[in-house]
Amino acid sequence: MALNALDRHLALIGFMGAGKSSLGEEAARLLARPFVDVDREIEQRTGASVPDLFATRGEAGFREVEAEVIGELLGAAQPAVLALGGGAVGPDRTRSLLREARVVLVEVDVDTAWARASGTSRPLAQDEGEFRRLYEERQPLYREVADAVATDLDGVILAAGGVHHEAGALDRLGELVPGGGPVALVADAVVIGIYGMRAQEALGKRLETMHELPPGEDAKQIGVAARLWSGLWLDRGGTVVALGGGCTTDLAGFVAATYLRGVPWVAVPTTLVGQVDAAIGGKTGIDIPEGKNLVGAFHWPARVVLDETLLETLPEREWRQGRAELVKTQLLAGHRAWLNLGHTFAHALEAAADYELPHGEAVALGLLAALRLSGYDTTKVERELSPQPVKVDLERAWQALQRDKKRTGGAINVVLLTDAGPVVEERPADEVRRELEQLIAQRD
Ligand code: S3P
Repeated sequence: MALNALDRHLALIGFMGAGKSSLGEEAARLLARPFVDVDREIEQRTGASVPDLFATRGEAGFREVEAEVIGELLGAAQPAVLALGGGAVGPDRTRSLLREARVVLVEVDVDTAWARASGTSRPLAQDEGEFRRLYEERQPLYREVADAVATDLDGVILAAGGVHHEAGALDRLGELVPGGGPVALVADAVVIGIYGMRAQEALGKRLETMHELPPGEDAKQIGVAARLWSGLWLDRGGTVVALGGGCTTDLAGFVAATYLRGVPWVAVPTTLVGQVDAAIGGKTGIDIPEGKNLVGAFHWPARVVLDETLLETLPEREWRQGRAELVKTQLLAGHRAWLNLGHTFAHALEAAADYELPHGEAVALGLLAALRLSGYDTTKVERELSPQPVKVDLERAWQALQRDKKRTGGAINVVLLTDAGPVVEERPADEVRRELEQLIAQRD
């Protein structure tokens, strides 16, 4: 089974009136996938409406066609978003086919469901008592097949990407790591000190090995990756679990992407930077002296576990770093390439500082440069993040900037804001260099 959430069909289940069809259509648009409303598909294929099918074939006849159509749709290779009818989870066969999909339960309370469904032609929404009874009867079936529960579009999108958000989720890690196979836990010494015991207890018998990384950017080195490759005993049924900040999840995700040509991994970010940015999106990698993240892989985590209570132990400087990524996200709509806003400059400064400049502080500076190049006001960034110029060597930073991953040939491409949204645009080298220079403090 493909554990990668994005390679699987996204199936929305839930009671009548939950909003599966409208949420499904929106989610499909945002995820750039085809959308199929199963009831409409049945109507198209049979040439009859759902109420007519109930009238002519009975509920049992309708369920047969429904299961058949769902089976076919789930068998299609291209991942789609499917909105299933409220009773589709009834047949055992459909429930077992759904194990291959990412199943999100769109939750609705029974009063709202009745307010929405009564007065429509739905055959099973004609009698209120029967409707309420059916609602109760189906809840266990929905829970049995659902990988996640959502009530709105944000929830559906997070669930589609495998992001699980729950206060206290760390203590349920044993259940939240998909698959049931053995786990290799990867964390730095500080995080092991604070959360190691809880993670061990939560993983229980599934915990096979534990691996300690150096703290911070020192983890993202080829030597550290090599030690981890050698230390892993997992086969492909096992999962790497990365518990920690962005450096831990970047390194452990990269090792998971490359070990045995790829094993599943789960990110449990413990910093704000990790929870709002680094652990989401499947970007993994290590640094080389020539530049940050220049070696890596896109390897989508089987699950990202967001437990905001883990942030309670976060030092103040780490909070500020995470806020830089939050401000960036507020300035953008969320497209992947756009997530690099300010990062061309940030990465160059980090490399020139031998990775001793924390990422969030570099991003705050990078945002200033990106906004200035876009001709936009920098007040929000200045007020909320107060970025301070850094003491690094301009020539080193300039060298690193020219090795940016968005480079095409000799051209420097930067993410800029326009009134129509963010764009990736080529800018003259001298203009980019001038902006970089402004972020660097004069040596005294
Ligand atoms: C049904 C729900 C309907 C439709 C049919 C049966 C059910 O779909 O499949 O009327 O058994 O709950 P919606 O959930 O989209 O209303």
